[in-house]
Amino acid sequence: MAEAGTLHDAFIEELRDTYDAEKQLTKALPKLAKAATDAKLRSAFETHLKETQGQIARLEQVFESLDEKVRGKHCDGIAGIIEEGKSIMEEDFDDTTMDACLIAAGQRAEHYEMAAYGTLVAWAQAMGHTEAATLLQQTLDEEKAADKKLSGLAEGGINQGAADAAHPDDDEAEPVGAAASSARKSSAKTARR
Ligand SMILES: [Fe+2]
Ligand SMILES: [Fe+2]
Repeated sequence: MAEAGTLHDAFIEELRDTYDAEKQLTKALPKLAKAATDAKLRSAFETHLKETQGQIARLEQVFESLDEKVRGKHCDGIAGIIEEGKSIMEEDFDDTTMDACLIAAGQRAEHYEMAAYGTLVAWAQAMGHTEAATLLQQTLDEEKAADKKLSGLAEGGINQGAADAAHPDDDEAEPVGAAASSARKSSAKTARR
């Protein structure tokens, strides 16, 4: 009977999965950048592409520190997230709405990576792989910063711009009980299209 795998085996598997995820992201990020209209958003994606290339090199260092061959294993999770991002980019949205959707797609990827690196750091620490833990923590910090930057852009105007385009007649929040007039308004809007 084959010996049961250990946490170390699971750790190496997870590293391979993450290595592949980063490689997939180096192909996806330029597409997000190209689809972005807001200059700051485009440059955020471009900056994160450079960081991602550094993260791939960092993972190679992690493999070396563990005397493991550098190898990836197809990451289905990030492939699905990238696929969803692609279908969003095929939609016919106005520019600001598309930017809001690109941020949503980007943040899904960042959160997936944060979960992966959070686990990797914890496992590396638990097993005493201190060099690997330090390297993986550096990437985790970059992923968190990238996520925060996207939140900042969304909340710093892009979401509001998209919301204003969705509800151009709303000067301020509607009072409670205005449902009927709001329904009239939205049917009028539909009719104008
Ligand atoms: Fe990454
Ligand atoms: Fe990332």
